[in-house]
Amino acid sequence: MFSSLMPDVASTQAAKTDTLFFALLGLSSAIILLVLVLVATFAIRYRRGSRANRGSLPPILSREFEIGWTATTLFVFLFLFWWAGSSQLSALAPPKDAIEIHVVAKQWMWKTQHSNGAREINELHAPLGVPVRLIMTSQDAIHSFFMPAFRIKKDVLPGRYTETWFEASKLGVFHLFCAEFCGTDHSRMLGRIVIMTPEDYARWLTAQPEGDDLAHEGAALFATRGCSGCHAPSSPVHAPNLAGLYGRTVQLADGRTVTADDAYIRDSILQPGRDVVAGYEAIMPSFASILSDGEIQSLVAYIRSLATGQAGRGPALAPGNAIEGRPSGESDGAKP
Ligand code: CUA
Repeated sequence: MFSSLMPDVASTQAAKTDTLFFALLGLSSAIILLVLVLVATFAIRYRRGSRANRGSLPPILSREFEIGWTATTLFVFLFLFWWAGSSQLSALAPPKDAIEIHVVAKQWMWKTQHSNGAREINELHAPLGVPVRLIMTSQDAIHSFFMPAFRIKKDVLPGRYTETWFEASKLGVFHLFCAEFCGTDHSRMLGRIVIMTPEDYARWLTAQPEGDDLAHEGAALFATRGCSGCHAPSSPVHAPNLAGLYGRTVQLADGRTVTADDAYIRDSILQPGRDVVAGYEAIMPSFASILSDGEIQSLVAYIRSLATGQAGRGPALAPGNAIEGRPSGESDGAKP
């Protein structure tokens, strides 16, 4: 009955969200029904002129009854809170083995980029049964990435990263909408999500025109935009070495600590004076007007790759001393 009113169920999250939705709908309907029946019963029983007993309450409505039903409803609602909360929290944290796809929104299109550098416009190909983490940012206004069949909607903001993730549970082509009014052609900011078997996805991915993957693109930018002049291990400038930085806790000059995630690295490129690392001078210029959003994404991907050694030839430092200064021994002075 409801299935024709609802969008497809095409992700693991969609199934969870729907179960919750129908449980809440069922519970609310039961309560409404109960209230309606009581209203009708009382209206008839105690209508004007009826001979119903209007005196003291029947003995069943004792104190125990009051306490009992109050406690029951309390526990029902605590249970609902826990259920909805845990379902939403799991929707926030992507599994560790999720593949990453970058999304850039702009007036009025969606640009996506896969781990090997393949790019798409207004399309997103993804494999079935594999968790996919979306790292999203906007080049202009606020947009919102909305995939109804996946029950996923997340705002995409300029100057900031937002993330979401999904695991597709159904093959096919699904809608992608922008769900935030973002200007004249907002209503035409549409796309398609194409879910393929993992084998087909791998084949599709390799058939895409060769693009540098993000991290390699970032490695090139790191040299051409002058980052390596200060941040390379061999540099005479006293700047934090970035190998092993990603994911670590960083001690700042003002005593705060932050985790070096995508957002921190992005902020450090755009507003270097904001979170100065303890032991360093605030000498880095802002790259806000120099780098595009796409370039910053590439640089962040490159710095992230230095943590795991996927790409580039960043010196393999023990994470513990990466930020303290230049490595003393091993560096061959090679620019990453
Ligand atoms: Cu983008 Cu509405």
